[in-house]
Amino acid sequence: MSTIREPVVIHKGLDNVYVKESKICYIDGEASKLFYRGYSIEELASHSTFEEASYLLIYGWLPTESQLDQFTRKLESNRAVEPRLLELLRKLPPKSDPMDVLRTAVSALGVYDPQPATDDLDARIDKALAILAKVPTIITAFQRLRTGSDPIPPTGHMTQAGEFLYMLTGHEPKPHDVHVMDVALILHAEHEMNASTFACTVTASTLADMYSVITSGIGTLRGPLHGGANEAALRTVLDVGDPSNAESYVVDALAHKKRIMGFGHRVYKTWDPRYLILKKLGEELAVKKEQTKLFDTALAIETSARRHLEGTPIFPNVDSYSGIVFHMLGIETDLFTPIFVMSRISGWTAHTIEYLEANRLIRPKALYVGKIGLPYPPIESRSGKPQE
Ligand code: CMC
Repeated sequence: MSTIREPVVIHKGLDNVYVKESKICYIDGEASKLFYRGYSIEELASHSTFEEASYLLIYGWLPTESQLDQFTRKLESNRAVEPRLLELLRKLPPKSDPMDVLRTAVSALGVYDPQPATDDLDARIDKALAILAKVPTIITAFQRLRTGSDPIPPTGHMTQAGEFLYMLTGHEPKPHDVHVMDVALILHAEHEMNASTFACTVTASTLADMYSVITSGIGTLRGPLHGGANEAALRTVLDVGDPSNAESYVVDALAHKKRIMGFGHRVYKTWDPRYLILKKLGEELAVKKEQTKLFDTALAIETSARRHLEGTPIFPNVDSYSGIVFHMLGIETDLFTPIFVMSRISGWTAHTIEYLEANRLIRPKALYVGKIGLPYPPIESRSGKPQE
């Protein structure tokens, strides 16, 4: 019997496949433009805070003072994690990847919640906000535990950016560092139907609870082609070590068909607007922190790569300078992707809720190209190899 073939088009990578209408995010990849709910990323980075941008993404409008106050209080009151979760973190191997720890911890939050599932969309948002608030506490607690220190509880009155920097060290963070962190969180909060947002949407479409939704997002963001690129980009800069080595690194990488991390994007066919903002922040920070060699090395890699990739649609993306910025803030490299989670939960939540407002189970198809109707062979006559 022959294989059934349907006249179908396969969209490998789901390139240019639309799964819903959305009012959350608009990207013009040809014109280097990004908008959250109609506001440009440049305006938001200049005037907003991560809390305001998150409110905007999730609820659809910029909050009034009292709405923002209520939202901020909700995050503050959810920031602490219960002792059982800290006990769990203590039991995890200190060598664990922080993204694995975060995935495990968010999943565990669902187990500790007496009522993790709800059909009510407002209650779903509240669950997501509680997770969002706890993520900085989880990341910093694990960072301290694995370096032999005790976790530092949140102050309960700082922003997402401020609490994160505070709980890492126990020292009041410098206002400029908090500002840089806050802008970085705004820039990472949302990016339309990327791989992790799609993973969250697929999970939500089954009506699974928000812990499962966000755990799916974390697992998907973890890969080096998505969230993990910021770590790889910084490692490259540290390995290259000096601006004078940049040209030979780029020539060698491209000759061996290796990808320059922090370059290229499925949607942007020119530079990523977030890259420009982070590059400027990185440059300012490098002068303040006296780490200009690191910044100059990244700049030399960028300059050389842009020269060699001229004429291609491969331009710097958000990750070309995000790692440098986080490194200069004194953050361990393997915490960069967890920081991405600390911000992107806002976008994941916004899309999940928007999808659930008119839910349809996501269930695509695979075109079967194997054989059918084969006779079942007895064990002694099997070849033990794939069928021809
Ligand atoms: N360096 C060198 N060549 C590249 C790069 C790069 N960074 N990116 C793509 N190319 C080449 C690729 O080798 C391929 O060449 P050829 O046609 O000769 O085989 C061509 O461009 C098309 O590549 P693709 O993988 O089909 O393109 P894509 O649109 O699927 O790629 C990407 C998007 C982000 C996976 C890719 O550009 C990449 O791997 N970049 C490096 C990792 C990175 O920086 N990721 C962060 C993305 S932004 C943050 C986020 O969304 O999470």
